[in-house]
Amino acid sequence: MFTDGQPDRIDAASHAIAGYMTGLIARKRQDSGDSLLDRLIVARYGADRLTENELVSLACLLVVAGHETIANFIGTALLTLLQRPGHLEHLRTHPEDIPRLLDELLRYDSPVSTATFRFTTEPVCLGGTDIPAGIPVQVAIGAANRDPGRYTEPDRLDPGRDAVGHLSFGHGIHRCLGAPLAKAEAELALRAVLTRFPHLRLAVPADQLTWRRTRLVRGLAALPVLTGSP
Ligand code: HEM
Repeated sequence: MFTDGQPDRIDAASHAIAGYMTGLIARKRQDSGDSLLDRLIVARYGADRLTENELVSLACLLVVAGHETIANFIGTALLTLLQRPGHLEHLRTHPEDIPRLLDELLRYDSPVSTATFRFTTEPVCLGGTDIPAGIPVQVAIGAANRDPGRYTEPDRLDPGRDAVGHLSFGHGIHRCLGAPLAKAEAELALRAVLTRFPHLRLAVPADQLTWRRTRLVRGLAALPVLTGSP
């Protein structure tokens, strides 16, 4: 829903998913199970249940944060590797090295364009720009990840680089809750694709790929590949 780019369609999709979750929560109250959502429905902090709005918004957040992000990351990470046959071949024969490359792949091309809104609590000067107090600020994650002051040759994918400090999962108290899960999913997906399809290659030149117009999530509309022997 964040990948469409048209504000009215994004709003309609946001309302639709909230409506779906409201109905699902109502049904689960009648007929409960053992899913994460069932557990959230009965979650208490002291005597304080999550409110209906908090429940719906948390359920929507988990779907969007836990699905759009990783689905797009798997696509862009695979594209990055398909454009570098040497790295691809190495990982195909040494899939145990995939976890070590994940942070560099996340730094090189993050599926999340901006961190969540922050607000200045006092006036700050950043990069020569004065920002007064109480102003919403959004960090452009991709730009931070390719800051030449932080990374040497930032536009180069460097498997030997220590990229652990990248900002693709955000920073601070709201840093991505699902980061370890995301890495586990990415490792499983890349390992499966690389080992099951030894002849995997792009079906079209990379400059003909279509990127989604987005306000939050960065990713490909499709990644056409060939799997048969060349
Ligand atoms: C490659 C995959 C992923 C990336 C790049 C990613 C990135 C991010 C970013 C940038 C934030 C905002 C951090 C900030 O503003 O400081 C965030 C928050 C969050 N992510 Fe992820 N995420 C990914 C996968 C997941 C997965 C699989 C889940 C699991 C459900 C998840 C759950 C969350 C939640 C719940 C938050 C909100 C945390 C909070 O506000 O305290 N994410 N993520």
